[in-house]
Amino acid sequence: MMSIRKLLLPLAARHCVALGLVCLSVVACGGGDAPSATESAQGLPTETAQATSPTLNPALVQLGQRLFVDRNLSEPAGTACVACHQPARGFSGNNGSGLEVAQGSITGVFGLRNPMSNAYQGLVPSFHFVVEDDGKLEAVGGHFWDGRAATLAEQALGPFLNPAEMNNPNAESVVRKVAASNYANQFRAVFGADSLNQTATAFQHIGEAIAAFQLAALQPYSSKYDAFVRGQARLSDAEARGLALFQDPNRANCAGCHTMNPSSGKPEDSPFSDFSYYANAIPRNTRTPANANPNFYDLGLCGPDRSAPALPTDAPAGLSPESLCGKFRMPSLRNVAERPAYMHNGFFRSLRDVVRFYATRNSNLRDWYGPTALPNDLPVRYWGNIEISKPPFNRNPADGPVLNNAEINDIVAFLRTLSDGYDPATGITTPPTFPALPAPTPPARPNPPPLPN
Ligand code: HEC
Ligand code: HEC
Repeated sequence: MMSIRKLLLPLAARHCVALGLVCLSVVACGGGDAPSATESAQGLPTETAQATSPTLNPALVQLGQRLFVDRNLSEPAGTACVACHQPARGFSGNNGSGLEVAQGSITGVFGLRNPMSNAYQGLVPSFHFVVEDDGKLEAVGGHFWDGRAATLAEQALGPFLNPAEMNNPNAESVVRKVAASNYANQFRAVFGADSLNQTATAFQHIGEAIAAFQLAALQPYSSKYDAFVRGQARLSDAEARGLALFQDPNRANCAGCHTMNPSSGKPEDSPFSDFSYYANAIPRNTRTPANANPNFYDLGLCGPDRSAPALPTDAPAGLSPESLCGKFRMPSLRNVAERPAYMHNGFFRSLRDVVRFYATRNSNLRDWYGPTALPNDLPVRYWGNIEISKPPFNRNPADGPVLNNAEINDIVAFLRTLSDGYDPATGITTPPTFPALPAPTPPARPNPPPLPN
């Protein structure tokens, strides 16, 4: 069978002439080399990321939780943030769409992408570029699959106005709903008596409160894996074998991208992502409404929900922003086993299929892309961006799958240890729940309507 590397190399080489951009990836993929330590360690500028839950004003955090679960903040009412970010579903979900993409507050209106987990957002650095030792340029960080939200507070405002999510026509209508809520007084207590009177600043404050809630409450580090690194739990034989495979730099090499450090006693040293961007050549998900149009492609960093970011001034000469097209931000794998669907387009519904894909992408092309055995969710001109240098994606197809079935099962067993809510005393994992909210205090005076800007 034709090798994905053999297939992509000449293509990339040909495009070198037309677009200077892919030359770099051709040079880099020549050797099938194992990732260097510097490569896997890069991308985590700790000065921007908030690994541990910061101490935040409890009133602000509680207000954020009220906003996060308030079903009245959509148009029409009924869809809260939590509808697509349920703790019991790995902080993801689909709002009852039955698809891998979520339904918004309007019946029959679907989003473009698989809802990401909104937990552990403090680990996500702001969007930036890193020029690696070998001259390769790597995009890192930012919220969403395409990194388009610079901060968590900014991110939180997106869903309110997204027609496929909470569908409010403008910020004013969101602020109006908050002013009419039974927790408007808590809002004023946190942000000031007049804080709901000025739309633009009130909307910003809504984002700040939700961000505070996510940082304070959604980074529990309470998985079996966390208990294990703290010395409070032992992994089963299958889980331990899975951990070893996950880290093996020459084969599965999961940790080469999904960074971790099991010998550190600090769980936050295991974010399970370096938050950089790759084109993994995930197969096209023909079940999503957007993909009913055969000419539509989700290009991640190149849109459609953003324009490609400007390259930094120290970017290697000759590189074009097109080298970013088709790349998506690596999510953390914490709570991954609870999620209903995987990858930006939700192509996979089972974790076992995800691991099988990594094990056999290069050797069993037809299993993933059909009879053509060609990548089917990226226009040909961007095939040079597909990752083929890091194991397991550098695999020679003649060598067959990287992992056998038993090894795939072991990695899945290990991934299941990343779900929060593990009790070291009983060995049982129960999905986390949000803290109970006290009844809101009644307003001291009637809520004045917010003034438009
Ligand atoms: C109808 C479903 C839906 C609703 C409602 C929703 N989200 Fe999301 N959320 C998504 C989808 C889909 C994505 C990924 C979108 C993308 O990458 O383009 C996402 C991404 C995110 C992310 C980015 C995670 C990361 O790792 O970068 C955060 C944080 C988040 N949502 C928080 C929220 C908050 C806060 C609200 C309420 C204000 C909310 N979501 C409402 C579907 C939803
Ligand atoms: C070359 C870097 C790289 C390597 C190696 C890698 N991953 Fe990933 N992983 C990614 C990126 C990037 C994504 C998101 C891709 C997308 O959605 O287009 C991802 C997504 C995932 C997801 C889906 C998460 C979600 O929330 O949808 C799982 C599960 C996963 N990887 C597991 C693994 C396992 C297990 C291994 C080892 C067999 C592995 N990865 C190796 C980069 C990598």
